[in-house]
Amino acid sequence: MDIAVIGTGYVGLVTGAGLADFGNDVICCDIDPKKIDVLNNGQIPIYEPGLDKIVSRNVGEGRLRFTTDLPEAIRRSRAIFIAVGTPPKPDGSADLRYVEDVARTIAQHMNGPKLVITKSTVPIGTGRMIERILAESGNGHKGSVVSNPEFLREGSAIEDFLKPDRVVIGASDEESIGLMKEIYAPLHSNGFLATKISFINEVAVMCELLGADVQDVARGIGLDSRIGPKFLQAGPGYGGSCFPKDTSAVADIARRYGYEFQIIEAVLRVNENIKERMVAKVIEALDGEVRGKTVAILGLAFKPETDDMRDSPAIPIIKGLQKQGAIIRAYDPGAIENSKKIFDNVTYCGDAYETANGADALVIATEWNEFRALKLERVRKLLKQPLIVDLRNVYDPQRMKAEGFRYVSVGRTEDARVREHV
Ligand code: UGA
Repeated sequence: MDIAVIGTGYVGLVTGAGLADFGNDVICCDIDPKKIDVLNNGQIPIYEPGLDKIVSRNVGEGRLRFTTDLPEAIRRSRAIFIAVGTPPKPDGSADLRYVEDVARTIAQHMNGPKLVITKSTVPIGTGRMIERILAESGNGHKGSVVSNPEFLREGSAIEDFLKPDRVVIGASDEESIGLMKEIYAPLHSNGFLATKISFINEVAVMCELLGADVQDVARGIGLDSRIGPKFLQAGPGYGGSCFPKDTSAVADIARRYGYEFQIIEAVLRVNENIKERMVAKVIEALDGEVRGKTVAILGLAFKPETDDMRDSPAIPIIKGLQKQGAIIRAYDPGAIENSKKIFDNVTYCGDAYETANGADALVIATEWNEFRALKLERVRKLLKQPLIVDLRNVYDPQRMKAEGFRYVSVGRTEDARVREHV
């Protein structure tokens, strides 16, 4: 992300260099031309162990610049960190003059939406004050104010910034929180969680080949307290606004540093591959031919309890099936409106039963609670043939068999008995 850091004192400089090191494009600004000259000459005006190295590395790689041209920095940046001084006034209160000046300059040069982040230590109410200034003189552009206080210790500031034990973000809207997460993306554990998911999804493939049950394997792995049971649910691949973006970002940052983050690259490949396998799974369940057949899809959102369709596995699954000539009926308790912008030729239904009506197969793509307790007999009668493809392993294979279904799930053999294998 394009970022400006205003104020190149202790906090500003460490923040700017650290954010550049995370892969952002950062301009550090100061009104003091001497300071900027020093920095542009490759020197560091303060002493902080390790700061010189990360500054020179990021300057060398073109992600960090220094300037006195505040207006230019404001115009090219989506996010602006205020890191100017807030010296004490004689009565002990913080002098917010500089913060206020910066807020006015930002307002004056706004040319689009700006995220304004206070890094300086500021008293309660400062965010509102900045908000007011941006609203009053921001040329009608949206200015969102976020608090992101600093906990750097002098002497170990770099370490504290790059490996913090907490990052505090105070914001009043989702978009700002999302942008802040993007800025701090490499700090997320999301890459590792995505790795856990892709790992179990590949274990599921192995289970299918060997005739084992991925749920049993996941339980076994998860019982080891060093690993833990969460995020070991096999399925159609991860989606959403975070995992896909964060895993790609981590891979990209590594590449920029001349390294191939092989595990994350593999995680990304596996996730794509798994989604394709889901299309193949449905087609195979329909005896290899989906042309002209009606597939009922339950669940469109990338996970339950959201209307979010971003990178939902349902997208490549539905498009893949359509490409092979399938007719799609679909229902989701929350994501139909968003889906309408994504799919053509999908018949949207009012509930699971209407969706199942007359379909050749019922596919569970998102594990909404209401799909966990379907009236199975009713579903069976509504379907043209009793076939359920459960991509979220919601149901028990034995029970489905007893209910008269042909039941296909992920990483579990249909009769859940371990087959003999060579
Ligand atoms: C994720 C992280 O879990 C949060 O910790 C983080 O704060 C957030 O991203 C973020 O960066 O803002 P989110 O994307 O909302 O949260 O959803 P998750 O519940 O993590 O699910 C992500 C995807 O992984 C979904 O598609 C889900 O179906 C899939 N998943 C999750 C699996 O396939 N198997 C699992 O065992 C768990």
